[in-house]
Amino acid sequence: MTTPIVIDCDPGHDDAIAILLALASPEVELRGISTVAGNQTLDKTTRNALKVLELADRADIPVVAGADAPLKRTLRTAANVHGETGLDGPDLPDPTTKPVDGDVVDVLAEWLEPGVVLVPTGPLTNVARLLRQHPHATDRIVWMGGAIAEGNVTPAAEFNAYVDPEAAHIVFESGIDLTMIGLDVTHMALFDSTHAERLRGAGKAGKAVAELADFFLEFHRQRYRFDGAPIHDAMAVAHVIDPTLVTTLNCNISIETTSELCDGRTVVDRWLVTGRPKNAHAGIDVDAHRFLELLVERIGSLG
Ligand code: BDR
Ligand code: CA
Repeated sequence: MTTPIVIDCDPGHDDAIAILLALASPEVELRGISTVAGNQTLDKTTRNALKVLELADRADIPVVAGADAPLKRTLRTAANVHGETGLDGPDLPDPTTKPVDGDVVDVLAEWLEPGVVLVPTGPLTNVARLLRQHPHATDRIVWMGGAIAEGNVTPAAEFNAYVDPEAAHIVFESGIDLTMIGLDVTHMALFDSTHAERLRGAGKAGKAVAELADFFLEFHRQRYRFDGAPIHDAMAVAHVIDPTLVTTLNCNISIETTSELCDGRTVVDRWLVTGRPKNAHAGIDVDAHRFLELLVERIGSLG
């Protein structure tokens, strides 16, 4: 059975690899991509999404540009992680196509027919705007973001949650079937130089991913002393491809929006101590080896 998906993203090295994983996987059909400001400004994330489709010879897939800023806050980008272009490293082909016309909310509402899973891999600005206008626009969301334990952009918060906590709050209160693939699980699966070397000779997509990894691994080596990099966003796509990879826990997740130290924290009731209603599924474990092998095999198959 093939699951149709829409990816809402801010490419971004790991967003780009998530898109390629989706394109390489028969279990999912990528219906469209919406972009949001996050890792870089909206013009750059949109151009990057188009470039990734161009690389994969899939410029037939529509891209719509979404929000250029969070709902209430000033945009904070991650140029330190992804570079000035948002996809520093490889020399990717220039896009031959343009984003489709229209407001992202209208376009997403049209794309999200029943059964289509929405996979956001950036700040939740577009998704919150969508749900404010169309509260039942989708019946399943698998989001890369948040963390049960430590954050990455502040001690308390993960980047996607931190950039637009008000949007995250709206999405987590929506009642929609929601899975959070957070740092706790993405940090368990590090893509290292041996994975990159297996891909470097595997066609233009493999070469581009190896070069994305060169840049991304260097950041993680310097910043965290990791011998590899978490390909965060690809794990959200992988969870739709194969739900046995990530173990999840149904629990309450609430978003902090009014704290000087903890804004953007995803407060996960891991041990069910609050009695608050269960509103999400939090990733708590992953079969890292199988996830990384899936990633390498599928990207390698793109040629
Ligand atoms: C998330 O933040 C971004 O930098 C990545 O693309 C990923 O979506 C990880 O915290
Ligand atoms: Ca992202």
